[in-house]
Amino acid sequence: MTIDVILGLQWGDEGKGKIVDFLATQYDIVARFQGGPNAGHTLKFDGKKYVLHTVPSGIFRTDLLNLIGNGVVIDPITLVKELENLDKAEVEFRSRLLVAKKAHLILPTHRLLDAANESAKGKEKIGSTLKGIGPTYMDKTGRNGLRVGDTLLPDFMERYNSLKNKHLGLLEALPSIEFDLEGEEQKWFVALDTLRSLKLVDGEYFINKMLAEGKKILAEGAQGSMLDIDYGTYPFVTSSNTVTAGVCSGLGVAPQTIGQVIGITKAYCTRVGSGPFPTELLDETGDFLRNEGAEFGSTTGRPRRCGWIDLPQLKYTIMLNGVTQLAITKIDVLNKFAEIKAAMHYSYDGKVTDELPFDLCGIPLEPVYQDFEGWQQQLEDAKDFEDLPKAAQAYLEALETYLDVPITMVSTGPERESLILKEMMMDLPW
Ligand code: GDP
Ligand code: IMO
Ligand code: MG
Repeated sequence: MTIDVILGLQWGDEGKGKIVDFLATQYDIVARFQGGPNAGHTLKFDGKKYVLHTVPSGIFRTDLLNLIGNGVVIDPITLVKELENLDKAEVEFRSRLLVAKKAHLILPTHRLLDAANESAKGKEKIGSTLKGIGPTYMDKTGRNGLRVGDTLLPDFMERYNSLKNKHLGLLEALPSIEFDLEGEEQKWFVALDTLRSLKLVDGEYFINKMLAEGKKILAEGAQGSMLDIDYGTYPFVTSSNTVTAGVCSGLGVAPQTIGQVIGITKAYCTRVGSGPFPTELLDETGDFLRNEGAEFGSTTGRPRRCGWIDLPQLKYTIMLNGVTQLAITKIDVLNKFAEIKAAMHYSYDGKVTDELPFDLCGIPLEPVYQDFEGWQQQLEDAKDFEDLPKAAQAYLEALETYLDVPITMVSTGPERESLILKEMMMDLPW
């Protein structure tokens, strides 16, 4: 058996939560492999909305296991809030939620460091979600971090205090930030008890056993490929590998276990936080997209920057991820446009190119657009691809031709059932 992967091909918020929740019924396990509570994955069904940050988006489907893999960084406080929301929604999770012991912990001082680091950057700030992601991954690669499994050790408190003191030392050189450290620590330790009471597993053995038993596994990405630490718009990125390669290190599986890679893109493009965004619209069209698409961050509530779809950018992330199928979301957000644009190339340094330059920061990269006819009608009644207005079909077919990957899913609204399966889903387990 192989592991199918769902991940975002842009700068995050492509609608991963919705698609994972939809597909989850076809799998035995959904596993998050990287990122942490910087993620906000929205699910809408039965007239209710849920936002998940750390818990995999398969949790609302009964009989399914959900693993928080070792590549994820966990803030017990955020996790416990999510669990309380699941309790309120009467979703049983204790027998179905597993946590890898090698996942790293976000300490209160990691959040404090995140805020102080951002403050020190001034105008150069990343626009981080301030959830402590960067400092936690820094401690992981710097070999200082604390892992979920460490909380079971008799000397855990010593290790905690030693890391906290290291952080307090670092904070002396940074701008001071208002932060109730004692209060946050109290909450953190209470939440840690709940985390300890969950099913803690050796994630890599667990997932490989499941594979050997023929179980169907779906890996759920967080963020998007343009926020990848290696290939994103560095330094305006997150601190993990958001691309398919991250599945191997983040779950402990070999490359040949990867099956289908489903890349998700919006029918336009958004980004939240600072950094380059070649097709950004700083005019009323951008504002219109933001309003129509309700483009406000699921984690921080910040307005998202909006622009047209960027096909060379998507070609790049399709290449990095080995995408085998595309899911296009939020096509309904374009319903009112008489004309839609897609960037087909870039003009840069007097030349036309389809490749992203080494560094996008400060580079006057001009998108070369093609115009597409809008459809100016609602899509609620479209159940099949053929039910979509001809202009919408033409737009999607042009994307498919340019990107050279089949579009198998088209999302026409935030609700679970607003999804068109375009053609026989290839090689997915049903
Ligand atoms: P994720 O981080 O990739 O899971 O995406 P987010 O949940 O942060 O952001 C996607 C937003 O778009 C959420 O509010 C979803 O409810 C919403 N959404 C998902 N698919 C569609 C769609 O096809 N149409 C519309 N209008 N909204 C959608
Ligand atoms: P999901 O999984 C959109 C962005 C932040 C910031 C940069 C670094 O919901 O798609 P970090 O908190 O990691 O230090 O922030 O990355 N960012 C996201 N943008 N969706 C996300 O997750 C994001 N996670 C981080 O806005 O620009
Ligand atoms: Mg999101």
